Amino acid sequence: MKTLQRTLAIIKPDAVARGAIGDIIGSLERRGFRILSGKMLHITRKQAEGFYAVHAGKPFFESLTKFMSEGPILVIALEKENAIAEWREIMGATNPANAKEGTVRKKWAESIERNAVHGSDAEDTARFELSYFFAGYELQ
Ligand code: CMP
Repeated sequence: MKTLQRTLAIIKPDAVARGAIGDIIGSLERRGFRILSGKMLHITRKQAEGFYAVHAGKPFFESLTKFMSEGPILVIALEKENAIAEWREIMGATNPANAKEGTVRKKWAESIERNAVHGSDAEDTARFELSYFFAGYELQ
């Protein structure tokens, strides 16, 4: 069944620094996503820790939050039928070594950590993640 969904995409500091924004947004537009809102942000370590709180305590947590606060990111609110699964399909596997040909991570990711993009993994996490970066009035 098709359901209209919203999801959060992040173009991470590695991909912003490598000039991948246009290519990634082009992929989203070609697949028919509606771009509800977008912001270029340089988040603090504390803000990165809040966003990734679900991963607190994991061995990669410190390094991940340092990476996410090293430079600007682009946060994007997306809408489409089955947006959550479809954006994850376009992104490719978390580890670029396992990412399929034609995916964003296959093309742009450097490593399992510096993996170019983020996408919400379920409806409840999408709600939390969208509300972390966007106020309700920004997502009309
Ligand atoms: P993301 O989809 O944003 O979700 C959590 C992030 O943690 C992930 O992408 C990677 O950037 C990072 N990550 C996940 N697993 C590992 C790992 N094993 N080692 C280092 N970083 C990881």
